[in-house]
Amino acid sequence: MKGVFPLNKFAKLRTPFYYYDTELLRTTLRAINDEASKHEGFIVHYAIKANANPKILRYIREAGLGADCVSGGEVEAALKAGFSNDKIVYAGVGKSDWEINLGLDNDIFCFNVESIPELEIINELAGQKGKVARIAFRLNPNVGAHTHANITTGLAENKFGIAMRDMETVIELASQMEHVKFVGLHFHIGSQILDMGDFQALCNRINELQTQLESHHIRVEHINVGGGLGIDYQHPNRVPIPDFKAYFDTYAKKLKLRPGQTLHFELGRAVVAQCGSLITRTLYIKKGAQKQFAIVDAGFTDLIRPALYQAYHKIENISSDDVNETYDVVGPICESTDVFAKQIDLNTTHRGDYLAIRSTGAYGEIMASGYNCRQLPMGYTSDELL
Ligand code: LLP
Repeated sequence: MKGVFPLNKFAKLRTPFYYYDTELLRTTLRAINDEASKHEGFIVHYAIKANANPKILRYIREAGLGADCVSGGEVEAALKAGFSNDKIVYAGVGKSDWEINLGLDNDIFCFNVESIPELEIINELAGQKGKVARIAFRLNPNVGAHTHANITTGLAENKFGIAMRDMETVIELASQMEHVKFVGLHFHIGSQILDMGDFQALCNRINELQTQLESHHIRVEHINVGGGLGIDYQHPNRVPIPDFKAYFDTYAKKLKLRPGQTLHFELGRAVVAQCGSLITRTLYIKKGAQKQFAIVDAGFTDLIRPALYQAYHKIENISSDDVNETYDVVGPICESTDVFAKQIDLNTTHRGDYLAIRSTGAYGEIMASGYNCRQLPMGYTSDELL
């Protein structure tokens, strides 16, 4: 089974470009809201880092999600897309002064603080404005995730978060500061996680920490468990929507929320990955000594995931129904890592055929670069091509 694409509409567009199926995005957002709203106190934010295309942000904001940002630029993108300031959370190990000031000026919901020096600077900058910043501490829970090493974040060896053993010290420190208010704890263990056991391990760790805090009479208003829910890269047509039920149910069953506590999520990939495809045209079919190459006009400047994480993306020739042949699908960039897939079967491919590189709505367009002086890819939604 292949995905369905409006080829006649593609003819006037310069390739490569991202194509977003807004019907699927809407259905995904509905599934998130349906499942999360079954549980009291669950609040879902969208991790803007996955895709900040303003057209995509609009749909997500309209569905009522909050925004999880990791830079001043993302806070600006969230505000511009109409996310309300009290639904913006801001994390990151290295927040610059202007970025903190931007968050303060816009009274964002919460800064997720990752170190003591950062806490001190937020207190100082808030003091200069006569404000009190709401802060949560990002703790490093030392919980592994069964995913690619480059995208695990919650191990003691990673640069993220504050060590658990320092938890009480930093909360105590914050309580003595005039211009910060401690409101919560934040965690994030990694990305593309499909084993609910990993999220359970995080829940168990948070339960332990909460008990520990209660013995010191410390109350936490908000718990933020980050994002990380993975998607099915192998079967974008058969499994277009991640299992949000299993995900939220895991937290509902395993995390012991205290009365009145809210539980925040920061989902990125699971929201947008499946609705996007990178559309590229075949430039040449080159028959090498041992294999044949489909050389396409997209490169790792448009989609870096295969080169950076050896990520798999399903590729379909959406112009041809001819019998299958085996190809390496490669881009035009002058680096040997510029390969989208090796030895895959595609319908016999000819110059000019459109290929769809699937499940690229997350960490695709947003990670594009201008290396080789290449132009950045455009992003179009199915709605606007109607
Ligand atoms: N919250 C925090 C603090 C994060 O660091 C991340 C992702 C998320 C939420 C969203 O995670 P998600 O739900 O999307 O898994 N470029 C990589 C992924 C990097 C993820 C970084 N942090 C990739 O293409 O696989």
